[in-house]
Formats: sequence, structure tokens, C-alpha cells
Amino acid sequence: MSEIVKARLHVYPNGGAAARALARHVADAIRVKPDLVLGLPTGRTPVGFYHELSALAERGYFEFRGVTTFNLDEFLGIPPSHPSSYRRFMETHLFSRVGLPASQTNFLAGDVTDPEAECERYERAIARAGGIDVQILGIGTNGHIGFNEPGPILQARTHRVTMRPETRRSNAALFDGNLGAVPREALSMGMATILQARSIVLLATGQTKASCVARLLSGGITTELPASFLQLHSAVDIVVDAAAASAIPGAVSEH
Ligand code: PGA
Repeated sequence: MSEIVKARLHVYPNGGAAARALARHVADAIRVKPDLVLGLPTGRTPVGFYHELSALAERGYFEFRGVTTFNLDEFLGIPPSHPSSYRRFMETHLFSRVGLPASQTNFLAGDVTDPEAECERYERAIARAGGIDVQILGIGTNGHIGFNEPGPILQARTHRVTMRPETRRSNAALFDGNLGAVPREALSMGMATILQARSIVLLATGQTKASCVARLLSGGITTELPASFLQLHSAVDIVVDAAAASAIPGAVSEH
């Protein structure tokens, strides 16, 4: 009988410690496989992680130059050069610091005339790169991963999505707090795209994520909590701070 593998939970006392641990985990994976294919998220949560990862690269702990990256999602209707695009976010927080050539960083383009063709292009590019080795995820306060929003159905592959109001609100900071400027649609990797990564690490910090983190670990699998589908994957690590772990019965900081 095959073993049932549950997501491994790692609780740290605060967000800084969680970011440092995740940076070390990813840096070690790159030391083992210098041409690692890395899936990356945006948002407030990973900023500290990107800072720590850049610092490890700057200190010479590992070399970033052989890595290929794929970002999870992008706003639809704004060009890559837009100051609020996720591409610009990544350049600011990671790529400019580690000197990764643009040819090795992959993004969905938000200004395409044919979004469906762009989604198909992205799936092909991931396949051509040999698939994603390590996919880093955040989680929305509504349980989304990427822009796979809760609802009656989820999409398997990279697709066009209408963002939920709470998701647009949490992205308003990128648009100088102007909610009206946040695009209504986005392109996002699908659930199968994410679940085909060889390993997945979800990073969550803060009280607002606590309920979703507890439900994703021990509730049923439901499209109303897209992150719950991570229970179907055999190599998932959940990295949280004490606040994000606060709704998990019996969870204690082990680090
Ligand atoms: P946040 O976003 O890090 O800004 O909370 C996470 C997400 O929506 O995946």
C-alpha cells in the first residue's frame, strides 16, 4: 500500500524567520541543481523572502545565473513595462539584485491581443523548460493560489481570470492605493500547472491567513478553497509564521 504523504508544516516565530528559512531552502535547492526551474509568486508576503534570497546570492552562498523562472500570474491589460506589473515587481525585488538575464525569466504578458494564445504559449514554455522543479506559492485571504479564485469550478491550465473584489483590493497598494486602477482580469497558471511542479512550498504570514492555512491542511478538498488541492500533491511544504499558524490545533513553533 502506498504511503499517504501529508504536507509538511514548518512554523517560525515571525515572518522574518520564515523568509530566511525559505530563502535557505531555495538556495540549497539551487546549489544541488544549478539549472533549477523555479515558479515564483508576487504579493506582500514574498518580499522578505526575495530580500533574503538576494542577500544569500550577493554573499556568494549560491549562483543564480543558471536558474530559469516562471511567474505564476500577471495582470491583464497593462504592458510589462507598467510600474505596477508583476514583471516590474520581480525586477525590483529579485531579478535586478541577482542579475538574472531576462531570457531566463518567464512571464505571462498582460498586453497581448490574444490572451488564450498567450496562455497556451506559457504552458508550452514550461513544458519546454522540463517542468517546474520548485513552485513557491502565496495564499490569498480567500484561499486562492495564483489567481485561481474560489468558486464552483477551477481551471486546470493557464487561463484568463476575473479577479474577486477582495483580490483587487489587496492589489490596490501596487497601484498607489487606487482600487479603480487595478485591472479586473489577469492571466494565471491553472491548478494542474501548479500541481505538476515537482515540489511546492507555500509561504503564509500574518493572522489574516490563519483560517485558510488551517483549512487547507485539514479540511476537505474543495474548489471554494483552491489551496486545499495541495493535499493531492506528495511534496508540499507549508512555511508559516506563528500568526498564520494560530488556527491550527496544537501547532507550535519548532524553529
Ligand atoms: P499577499 O498575496 O502576499 O499580498 O497577501 C498573496 C496572494 O494573494 O497569493
